[in-house]
Amino acid sequence: MENYFIDTHSHIDMIDDIDIETIISSAAENGVKKIIIPSADESSFEPVLEICAKYDNVFCMLGVFPQEAKKWNDKTADNIINLAKDNNKVVGIGEIGLDYYWDTSFTDLQKEIFIKQIEIANELELPFAVHDREAHKDTFDLITKYNKGSDVLLHCFSGSTEFARECIKAGFYLALGGVITFKNAKKMKEVAVDIPLERLMLETDAPYLTPVPHRGKTNEPKYIPLIAQEIANLRGVSIEEIAKQTTQNAEKVFKI
Ligand code: NI
Repeated sequence: MENYFIDTHSHIDMIDDIDIETIISSAAENGVKKIIIPSADESSFEPVLEICAKYDNVFCMLGVFPQEAKKWNDKTADNIINLAKDNNKVVGIGEIGLDYYWDTSFTDLQKEIFIKQIEIANELELPFAVHDREAHKDTFDLITKYNKGSDVLLHCFSGSTEFARECIKAGFYLALGGVITFKNAKKMKEVAVDIPLERLMLETDAPYLTPVPHRGKTNEPKYIPLIAQEIANLRGVSIEEIAKQTTQNAEKVFKI
């Protein structure tokens, strides 16, 4: 079968200057055949599920983003659990994690909400996608302490090769995106060469982090091949090999 790509982390619900039909058809024209939308907070669950219901090849994750931790309420956990049980398009919990870059005034709350969502993923037997910004140690420690059996994907991996190796040893998957194409992304390029292909996935994190040569434009799933090509060049392998293995990894973890 012909190789194709999966965009494992794409906020296509947040792209407001291109219509959804165009986003999905141009993705397909560029070999990006499946898309997973992470959610940011409860208010995005419904719009995200609506997109999934309309398109066979679009899936989603439910979760509350660390910087939105204050929006967590008594009903959020049940809401996530019920929606996920009701809907086979919900393939993971995300994006969840820790963000010490923006506002660090409520890191204890961020940790608490992260732990709750790891436990939800475990209960639902779903994988979870992690946002870790300048919080490598706490993120790693909480996952290894609380996760009981869910597959873990560190999205937009931004750590060193040393940290990547530690994560691989712990059994995590890593996703790389458009930043890999930036000239100054030395650390990430080293990670892309070092980690086993069996643990790598691709993502755009659209509408953010548009790859070279389209920086300044809205990011879309259709740019995944640029990311794959950069990784292929760095590793000295074919783009087909990157497509095949990363797609296999995503299909296995998310059961899509
Ligand atoms: Ni994201």
